[in-house]
Amino acid sequence: MTQEITLIRPDDWHLHLRDGAMLQGVLPETARHFARAIIMPNLVPPVVTGAQAVAYRERILAALPEGAAFTPLMTLYLTEGTDPADVAAAHDSGLVKAVKFYPAGATTNSHGGVHDVDKVMPVLEKMAEIGLPLCVHGEVTTPEVDIFDREAVFIDTVLDPLRRRLPGLRLVMEHITTEQGVAYARAGGPDLAATITTHHLILNRNHILVGGIKPHYYCLPVAKRERHRLALRQAATSGEARFFLGTDSAPHVDALKEQACGCAGCFTATNTLPLLAHVFEEDAALDRLEAFTSLNGPAFYRLPVNDTHLRLVKHPTPQTWPEKIFTEAGPVTVFNPGFPVFWHVES
Ligand code: NCD
Ligand code: ZN
Repeated sequence: MTQEITLIRPDDWHLHLRDGAMLQGVLPETARHFARAIIMPNLVPPVVTGAQAVAYRERILAALPEGAAFTPLMTLYLTEGTDPADVAAAHDSGLVKAVKFYPAGATTNSHGGVHDVDKVMPVLEKMAEIGLPLCVHGEVTTPEVDIFDREAVFIDTVLDPLRRRLPGLRLVMEHITTEQGVAYARAGGPDLAATITTHHLILNRNHILVGGIKPHYYCLPVAKRERHRLALRQAATSGEARFFLGTDSAPHVDALKEQACGCAGCFTATNTLPLLAHVFEEDAALDRLEAFTSLNGPAFYRLPVNDTHLRLVKHPTPQTWPEKIFTEAGPVTVFNPGFPVFWHVES
């Protein structure tokens, strides 16, 4: 029997589009299925000022395929030199929907991020005042802390103290990967939310490391033990308003993934929706997929839900998608879940 589900058109609340030839190559993959996305500012150089965000938004709009209806929601990259007045002006004009906090050195192009939270307090105080959300990459970078513990340690030593210091700050815990992340998000009030990626619902650390190292499964925060994956599955499929989709689709050309020191990032823009339908069906939660992809995010960001729809159909035979997207910057491997997927986006 064919099964189908119609969703209010989804949004992606955490997306890397890059710039130039890569932007041109990967943008259609997102614009095909998503109405809007929160665009990560970790370019080289990063998108720090309102003026840089205006220019980046123009480049994204110019790269859109003819007839695509896609709205990029811009963010600013928080640095210790960020000017609170510039952030407030970018928010007032409607341009910027969030500010991104990268602990310095935590991930791709994050060296210009925050070393000392004290130095960014004036910006965070202004954001609390105007209701502008802070998107947080929640990992400590202390070399002594094991990479699998970096999220849990960040929650205890950076995030919780910050939230106590500035309770009015609206905050998104980005791409949570642990049961501690799930529990902390759940314990917060309506001003705390968490995004969950597609790949963290599918992968645990064995998938990366057992039977040979899988560079296309390596991302940051790195996938954790199975019990953490199960906690994320339970959170995503719960329908709870505080959890929503942020794919963290992060394209790198294959040459940079498949080398002695490979880049972090999974590219899931192409097949995220069929994969999510598969995951939610497996957990008997298809009726809660729309909350995760299309309702909870806009509610947190205080934006209207989309007024168009997207239909997914489950076919009797496994569906296919391109193994790679051939951009002018080079080939980018599409995330391979390692199991057959019967769902397909029809329209
Ligand atoms: C992201 C990237 O490549 O920009 N990589 C990743 O593994 N997720 C950065 C990030 O979001 O951490
Ligand atoms: Zn990211």
